[in-house]
Amino acid sequence: MHRSLASILALGMIVSCAESPEDIGSPTWPERVPAKLDFKTHVRPILVINCIECHNSEDAVKYSGLNLQTKAAAMTTGKNAPVIIPGNADGSLLIQMLQRDPQHQWAMPPTPDRIWGARLEILRKWINEGADWPTGLVLEHPAEVENW
Ligand code: HEC
Repeated sequence: MHRSLASILALGMIVSCAESPEDIGSPTWPERVPAKLDFKTHVRPILVINCIECHNSEDAVKYSGLNLQTKAAAMTTGKNAPVIIPGNADGSLLIQMLQRDPQHQWAMPPTPDRIWGARLEILRKWINEGADWPTGLVLEHPAEVENW
């Protein structure tokens, strides 16, 4: 009895280790692009810290109507929607705007914050791999985040 309980626990630990997302350093300022991307761990913090303050359901009306809080909203809102084209990062307005010259009136996010390096490559990889976003996962306002 005890032995089988222990082996179930041990198995559970092995399974959860195998499934745990790759550590890439700080969630909001990653050092590298993970080989296997996990939306909640790797993409969500970048969007939350850099975009949700403006692109949320309440304030979107002031920011081209783009709401990035849910998958359904991210895929359909914005005056030039869709801004995300799964499988085509370079063709997605969301990525194009991040790569614009900071002096451009439409560079995102508005200066002085810039998205470059590993954070930009994580967003590009996410879109190129199909822009996976678990059903029901709502991105909270950065002030409300308790766990990154
Ligand atoms: C401080 C507020 C603010 C933040 C933060 C911000 N944006 Fe924006 N965003 C705007 C404004 C303002 C516009 C409208 C630009 C215009 O019409 O000139 C806009 C427009 C956009 C659009 C164009 C939508 C469309 O359909 O035309 C995209 C895409 C976008 N933002 C992506 C992002 C992303 C991705 C982030 C985070 C990395 C971000 N923004 C962060 C204010 C913000």
